[in-house]
Amino acid sequence: MKKNRFHFLILLLNILVINLPALSQKIHLLDSREGVSLRGLSAVNDSVFWVSGSKGTVAKSADGGKSMVWMQVKNYEERDFRDIEAFDSKTAIIMAVDAPAVILKTYDGGMNWKKVFEDSTKGMFLDAMDFTGKNGIVIGDPVKGSFFMAATNDSGDNWHKINLKDSFGFPFKGEAFFAASGSNIVFKNQQDKLNFLYVSGGEVSRIFWQDHLIKKLPMLQGKNSTGANAIAINKNKGIVVGGDFSADTIDQGNCVLLDFTLQDIQFSKPEIPPQGYRSSVCYITGEKLITCGTSGIDISLDGGKIWKKISNQSFHVCQIAKNGTKVFLAGSKGKIAFME
Ligand SMILES: *[C@@H]1O[C@H](CO)[C@@H](O)[C@H](O)[C@H]1NC(C)=O
Ligand SMILES: *[C@@H]1O[C@H](CO)[C@@H](O)[C@H](O)[C@H]1NC(C)=O
Ligand SMILES: *[C@@H]1O[C@H](CO)[C@@H](O)[C@H](O)[C@H]1NC(C)=O
Ligand SMILES: *[C@@H]1O[C@H](CO)[C@@H](O)[C@H](O)[C@H]1NC(C)=O
Ligand SMILES: *[C@@H]1O[C@H](CO)[C@@H](O)[C@H](O)[C@H]1NC(C)=O
Repeated sequence: MKKNRFHFLILLLNILVINLPALSQKIHLLDSREGVSLRGLSAVNDSVFWVSGSKGTVAKSADGGKSMVWMQVKNYEERDFRDIEAFDSKTAIIMAVDAPAVILKTYDGGMNWKKVFEDSTKGMFLDAMDFTGKNGIVIGDPVKGSFFMAATNDSGDNWHKINLKDSFGFPFKGEAFFAASGSNIVFKNQQDKLNFLYVSGGEVSRIFWQDHLIKKLPMLQGKNSTGANAIAINKNKGIVVGGDFSADTIDQGNCVLLDFTLQDIQFSKPEIPPQGYRSSVCYITGEKLITCGTSGIDISLDGGKIWKKISNQSFHVCQIAKNGTKVFLAGSKGKIAFME
C-alpha cells in the first residue's frame, strides 16, 4: 500500500514536472568565439547588452544580439574581465580580477577605456560588482586577513575602500569568493545603497547581510571548488546557487532558497534541485527563475522549489534585461545566447 502510494506520488510528480510549460523554452545561440571564456554579462534592455571575459574581450549588441560587436581592450589583451556593468549603449564598466586588480570605464561605446580603479596589493582578486543607480559595490578575496570591498556613488568614476566591520570582513580558513558570474554580491533592493548581501565559498560557504547578519549556508563546502557562486533577490525572497565546479553534475547542496522575514534569513531546500553545479541564477518573475552552469540550464516556475532541466549546454552566466523581459546567457567558447 505504502509502496503504491509512493509510486503514485512519483507518477504524479513526473506528470507535473513533464507538463511544465518550461519545456517550450528554447535556448537560441546568437554568437560564439573559440578560446574565449565569457563570465560578465549586463543587459540594459531587450536590445542593448554587453558581455566580457578572457583575453581582454568585450562584446556588445544594440539589436538584441542579431549583430554583436566584438572588441579586445587595448593593453589588456591578456586580462580576464570577469564582470561588467552596462549603463547604456555607450557607458560600461569592466573588472579585471588580479595582478593588478583594475576597473575600466568607457563612455564612448568601448572605443576608449579609462582606468577608474587599480590596486596592485599582492593577493588582491576582485570577484563581482553590483549597482543600484549610481551606487556600486565591488567585492574581492581576503587580503591581509580581511575581505576586500570598495564602493562608488558616481557610476564608477571614483571608488573608495569600505572597511567591513569585525566578523563581516573576517574570512575563515579557505574561504573566499568565486568570480564565476559576477553575481555573488547583490543589493537587496534598488533603493538602499547600504542594504546588500554577499555569499562566500571554498572550505566555508556563508551568507553575509551587510553588517547585521552572517549565517553558514546549507550548501556543499569543504573544498576549494565548493560553495555559493551566485545570489539573486526578489522582494522578500532570494536564492543562492553553487555546488562543486570540479564535480558539476552533483545535484545536492547546490541551491538554497532564502526568505527574509524581519531581520532574519530563513533557509529552505528545493524539492527538486537544479541538476548540477550552477554558477548563475536570475528571477524572470517572482515565480519564474533560470539557473545555469557548466552542466546545463534549469527553469523553475514555482519560485525555485521544483527545477526542470531544459538544456545540457554549458553557460556561466544568465541575466534578465534590467529594463526589459529578455534573458541572455554567456559562457565558454564565447557562447552568447538568449532564452525564449
Ligand atoms: C535600450 O536602451 C538604449 C539606450 O542605451 C535606447 O536607445 C533603446 O531605445 C532602448 N531599447 C529598448 C527596446 O528599450
Ligand atoms: C560620494 O562619496 C564621496 C567619497 O566617499 C563622498 O565624499 C561624497 O559625499 C559622496 N556623495 C554622495 C552624493 O553621496
Ligand atoms: C584546490 O584543492 C586541490 C585538491 O586538494 C589542490 O590540488 C589545488 O591546488 C587547490 N587549488 C587552490 C587554488 O587552492
Ligand atoms: C541531456 O543529456 C542526457 C544524456 O545524453 C539526455 O538523456 C537528456 O535528455 C539531455 N537533457 C536535455 C534537457 O537535453
Ligand atoms: C524602460 O523602458 C521603457 C520602454 O522602452 C522606457 O519608456 C523607460 O524610460 C525605460 N526606463 C528606464 C529607467 O530606462
